Amino acid sequence: MTRPTPFDPPEGYAAVRDAGGLARVRLWDGRTAWLVTGYDEVRSLLSDPRISADRGHPGFPFPTAGREALERSGRTFVTMDPPEHGRLRRVFTKYFAIKRIEALRPMVQRIVDELVDDIMATPPPVDLVPALALEVPARTICRVLGMPFEDRHRFQALDHRRNTLTTSPEDVLRATEEMLAYADALITRKQREPADDLVSELVADQLGGDTVSREELVAAVRLLITAGHETTANMIAMSIATLLRHPEQLRELRADPSLVPNAVEELLRYISIFHISPTRVATERIEIGGHVIEAGDGVITAVAGANRDDAAFADAARFDLHREARHHVAFGYGVHQCLGQPLARVELQTVIETIFRRIPSLRLATDPESLSVKEYAFLSLTALPVTWEEQS
Ligand code: HEM
Repeated sequence: MTRPTPFDPPEGYAAVRDAGGLARVRLWDGRTAWLVTGYDEVRSLLSDPRISADRGHPGFPFPTAGREALERSGRTFVTMDPPEHGRLRRVFTKYFAIKRIEALRPMVQRIVDELVDDIMATPPPVDLVPALALEVPARTICRVLGMPFEDRHRFQALDHRRNTLTTSPEDVLRATEEMLAYADALITRKQREPADDLVSELVADQLGGDTVSREELVAAVRLLITAGHETTANMIAMSIATLLRHPEQLRELRADPSLVPNAVEELLRYISIFHISPTRVATERIEIGGHVIEAGDGVITAVAGANRDDAAFADAARFDLHREARHHVAFGYGVHQCLGQPLARVELQTVIETIFRRIPSLRLATDPESLSVKEYAFLSLTALPVTWEEQS
């Protein structure tokens, strides 16, 4: 199913919703799986204990061969089921608690301000994808985990190779091995020279105990380096583009920055960067929406469909920064719901408040219709050229 615009999910999702919220679809490899686009059905399935995230099941659905190799490599708690999932996830929960992440706001603000200084010092037009969107999450995660800024280009390139749907399975595995080796070396360095960062804290709190092995910690640090990177980067670019395409609402947002947190929730709902996931497999027979999912069937809970369900969000196709959108499922739902969502929120809120305050005349330097997305593991804007009135 193709998207009518970069900002809207495929029209076929509505027909699937009307047919009970799910339908059988054919995958690239000829196998079939259930595509779920109804809001209630997505939430119900993602919290159903008869559904598994274990990529080892033969019926597990993957969008491409490269993605299959990626998801089956370097096992982390993303692909584990309870109770194993909970044992590991609980190790990391306290480090991502809202209060702790809120304390990072001044650091994120400094990163965003420096990038905006550089953008304003460049003659327009500027492409905000490399100049801002990719840099904010990369620099933030470097600071949080205690990695040198210079390393970001290395893990960005590896992550990009892993996430591109056309990368060969062999290359995906090589890139994963390199990332794991990087995470391993980072942990060794923090054991020798602890500093004020999350990896040093994890090493001090967790290594040597009986909850998490070194191998599990290496896999989890690899996950933390990558999980919040391209996701947040693409949300930043798509959010700025969405607001520039809705000038009336942008004017309101500029006049009243207290609207920013709500606007971010609506942007997460409206854009739904994870357009063909989370994916799962049924371990038992499930009756839902007038259909029967048999044990072994693959399940694709398309949050991009659920977040456009009129039954959950009135006139869901409309972008409205005043709407109550906090019950969106852009961060998933159930036990695997995004661990890093407080950090993603701080980054998105800071970028949106800052860029439109500091560059009030910011506008697209291209025809909005020419903006395009790569249909990646998640949506990715290829470029975001912008311009503004320079102050003399
Ligand atoms: C899980 C979305 C940013 C770390 C997830 C899931 C979604 C998601 C949909 C659920 C996957 C599933 O159920 O299979 C997003 C979006 C982000 C974002 C849209 C940005 C706007 C971040 C950040 C971090 C992060 C900044 C951390 C630095 C994780 C982790 C998991 C996860 C560790 C796995 C949780 C588990 O399996 O228990 N994310 N994420 N994410 N996310 Fe995020």
